[in-house]
Amino acid sequence: MLAVIGGFGLGSLRGEIRGLEVETIEAIRTPFGGPVQVDICRGNDLRIAFLPRHAAGDRVPAHRVNYRANIWALRSLGVERIISTNTVGGISADLPPGAMAIPEQLIDYTWGRESTFADSPDDEPRHIDFTWPYDQALREALRGAAAKVGKAVKFGGVYGVVQGPRLETAAEIQRLRRDGCDMVGMTSMPEAVLARELDLPYACLALSVNWAAGLGEGLIDMEEIKRTHGFGTVELIGILEAFLEA
Ligand code: HPA
Repeated sequence: MLAVIGGFGLGSLRGEIRGLEVETIEAIRTPFGGPVQVDICRGNDLRIAFLPRHAAGDRVPAHRVNYRANIWALRSLGVERIISTNTVGGISADLPPGAMAIPEQLIDYTWGRESTFADSPDDEPRHIDFTWPYDQALREALRGAAAKVGKAVKFGGVYGVVQGPRLETAAEIQRLRRDGCDMVGMTSMPEAVLARELDLPYACLALSVNWAAGLGEGLIDMEEIKRTHGFGTVELIGILEAFLEA
């Protein structure tokens, strides 16, 4: 089964994807906490698990998301691969608000987040390979889906994952740029590495909703973000729909 992790503003696939109905709503308890609410959706000969990362109503901010419980819950439901949607701020010139990317790399600037399943004294420490954090086949499939609906998407780029919840200073964004980041967001880690620990192929579809701090005109405007977010989410759902039809 495929899972979709919905980013900010994508709280449900109910009524969003043609032919897809919510069959059951699961509340999964895990060794790492929970319950995690997952919608099991069915339609078009498919079963999909949908997990709103920030929970119903976007109540849980990025730094408080229980990433371990989320990924564990998906695996316990029999999920075999994960598409994640994330909103980001654009750093490189080809990621203005409204643009999308399927990043190839990430740099993790987060701190204090539980980022391994193996951290009890009885566990063998895990030093897994994470050279390529996103799954190439899933990335290609997402690219194909975007092409099918005629949406130009940046195929590649580096996602700088920051702690939040505040946005960055202009100097921090310059540092991220020097580091090679093309976009900045708060949610791809530790989600991506936890999926890797459980051998679940994972790819990210990122929607730029603002220019990162200091790169646009003036300050970052939440109202503008919400507007970009509204039409961007519609396009994002179009890509997911094409992905599922493939
Ligand atoms: N910074 C960090 N996270 C974000 C941003 C940003 O500018 N936009 C959306 N998520």
